[in-house]
Amino acid sequence: MKTILLTGAKGMFGQDAVKIFSERGYEVLPVDIDDFDITDENSVNAYFEDLMVQRCCNFVLHAAAYTNVDGAETEKDRAFLINEKGTENLARITAKKNIPIIYLSTDYIFDGKKNTPYLPEDNFNPLNIYGESKLAGEIAVKKLNPRHFIIRTSWLYGHNGKNFVETMINLSKTQPVLKVVDDQTGCPTWTYDLAEGILKILEANMSYGIYHVCGSGFTTWHGFAKKIFSLKGIATQVIPVTTDEFPRPAGRPKFSAMENNGICRTWEESLKKYIELYH
Ligand SMILES: NC(=O)c1ccc[n+]([C@@H]2O[C@H](COP(=O)([O-])OP(=O)(O)OC[C@H]3O[C@@H](n4cnc5c(N)ncnc54)[C@H](OP(=O)(O)O)[C@@H]3O)[C@@H](O)[C@H]2O)c1
Repeated sequence: MKTILLTGAKGMFGQDAVKIFSERGYEVLPVDIDDFDITDENSVNAYFEDLMVQRCCNFVLHAAAYTNVDGAETEKDRAFLINEKGTENLARITAKKNIPIIYLSTDYIFDGKKNTPYLPEDNFNPLNIYGESKLAGEIAVKKLNPRHFIIRTSWLYGHNGKNFVETMINLSKTQPVLKVVDDQTGCPTWTYDLAEGILKILEANMSYGIYHVCGSGFTTWHGFAKKIFSLKGIATQVIPVTTDEFPRPAGRPKFSAMENNGICRTWEESLKKYIELYH
């Protein structure tokens, strides 16, 4: 049985990943901030020293992160501390212990000026602090641990966290009309599909490197909202608006869809399944 240590295990993705990896025969060691703070190098190292005395660890799936995209604009140091320094600590110790690291990154490392889906090798140019700090994490992983998988995902939703699907469904309970941005395009991704995509990469013994694991196809936030409501039979009207009409602290790419090379099903199929299961 393969053992996988998962950081950020209490997060939206982490909670689903623990379940899915366990069901697929992995021994999962779920860790979050109560076990060790990834920004504290001594605690990280001590945890791994103890762990390696007790058992082997085949992979570290590093999902812990500072994920507040707008908050990062005013908490830059904290975002970098967690997403860069925390990732550096994990990349260094995993390299020392010969453990491959799987680092979760984001479509927000791209500037959105392309008009076809981004490929893993495309140039990055983040428009916000969150994207910069996650990119700094990618760079640290590449530099410090040659045995790395960098998995970029996007527009994540799952039943254990705050996300667009749950927000839209909740708002629809009180709002007959909602204005939703229609000039940002990306790939909605269910946490379940992200976990399945990572499993596919590991089980096919794919080479180390960068992968995009996100729903196939793409849409705007407006298109995403309309699909949620049509699948759920909600009558709330969705009005398309521009980003300029809805200013937010962090800039966002206009087009951050990513090419996933068939690793995940379409975002519409996943959303349908998600709504059937949880709503
Ligand atoms: N959500 C998205 O749309 C999206 C899109 C692209 C990529 N991603 C990436 O996917 C991954 C999972 O995202 P998610 O939405 O599931 O994240 P999440 O729900 O915010 O979970 C992140 C987890 O990391 C923990 N954490 C934060 N700081 C820590 C520290 N210093 N030490 C140890 N643990 C710490 C958090 O604990 P607290 O809650 O106590 O802070 C939380 O349990 C992240 O790497 C994220 O950058 C997410």
